[in-house]
Amino acid sequence: MLSNITATSLQLHSQTGGIIPETAAREQIKYILPVINEALQKAQAYSSSEEQSDESRSVNEIHSQLRSNNSIPNIDAIAITYGPGLIGSLLVGVETAKTLSILWNKPIIPINHLYGHLYVNFLSDVKPEKDNFPTIGLVVSGGHTDIVLMKDEKTITWIAGTRDDAAGECFDKCARLLGYDYPGGPKISELAKKGDPKRFHLPTPLPGKDEYDFSFSGLKTAFFRLTQEHFQVERNSQEKIGWKEISSDHLNIEQQQILYDLCASLEKTIVDTIVKKTCNAAIKHAAKSIIIGGGVSANQLLIETFQRQAEEYGLQIFSPARNLSTDNGAMIATAAFFTGKETPWEEITADPELYFD
Ligand code: KG4
Ligand code: ZN
Repeated sequence: MLSNITATSLQLHSQTGGIIPETAAREQIKYILPVINEALQKAQAYSSSEEQSDESRSVNEIHSQLRSNNSIPNIDAIAITYGPGLIGSLLVGVETAKTLSILWNKPIIPINHLYGHLYVNFLSDVKPEKDNFPTIGLVVSGGHTDIVLMKDEKTITWIAGTRDDAAGECFDKCARLLGYDYPGGPKISELAKKGDPKRFHLPTPLPGKDEYDFSFSGLKTAFFRLTQEHFQVERNSQEKIGWKEISSDHLNIEQQQILYDLCASLEKTIVDTIVKKTCNAAIKHAAKSIIIGGGVSANQLLIETFQRQAEEYGLQIFSPARNLSTDNGAMIATAAFFTGKETPWEEITADPELYFD
């Protein structure tokens, strides 16, 4: 990996109480060319005389470098994710890729975002090798919870997914109830560290051994009910957040412990469900390893639980470094390297509903 530059609008979203699609797309328009330029510079893809720090340059100067005949970067292709996701954001990426592809005369490789979360594991120091296949792939993000079978590096078959909310979405919605901004997963996880996961009982979603599908909406409802019992949460239509804040500053010691225990119970229930179903699928399909990806794979308890279980079943676990678990460009480039099919720009269309084949 020569460079991996990410611009994030998380801070902006936390000010507005969540992602507003149009605001996200407008921000991406502002940042996409400077980010591409910085990535190319860091990777030394321009001849050195053209390199100049972006900080000292206006947007017009960056645009003119991207346009200049002398500064066609030394790259093989442009990989772009065309779905799933928010249509506005996808269009910003897809149209930019098409334009640069025409300008620089480089092919485009359209990539499914979900594949990116799996293939990013091939960037790790310890990466899947031929004898780790077949492997079970698990994508756990804010929008998806899917189990797939990878017979080899290129063949992916979908096995199961969520019937309602995704695991990350469950973390985010429960965190919102407690008054915490997106992304909620890291916050719940931080509070859970001081809690007792056995204090509160939350229902295990779709517990059957041969049931690989997920369902997190019942768990979310049970968590809401339990929280209301202890904190008398009220909907507050005045605030964008939607719920009155349960800030740990306003709570007495006993209430604080309830908050920590609720978070610990929620985290453990989500983690146990994911690990159990994924390991069951791995055994059923005689997999030799499990490849994990998506924002929720940054969860420490999830990875530790996977490691423990995997030892028992003799499965190897692959998970990305923390900075590669949430959305990034390197994961799209890696998926292009393994599965990429150069496609004429006219045939590439942003697809918000794109899924596994
Ligand atoms: O893959 P990602 O960056 O974006 C999507 O494609 O959705 O995943 C974002 C999701 C959010 O739901 C966020 O709460 C969750 O990943 N997440 C975590 C953690 N870090 C991020 N969930 C649990 N524990 C974490 N440490
Ligand atoms: Zn993602």
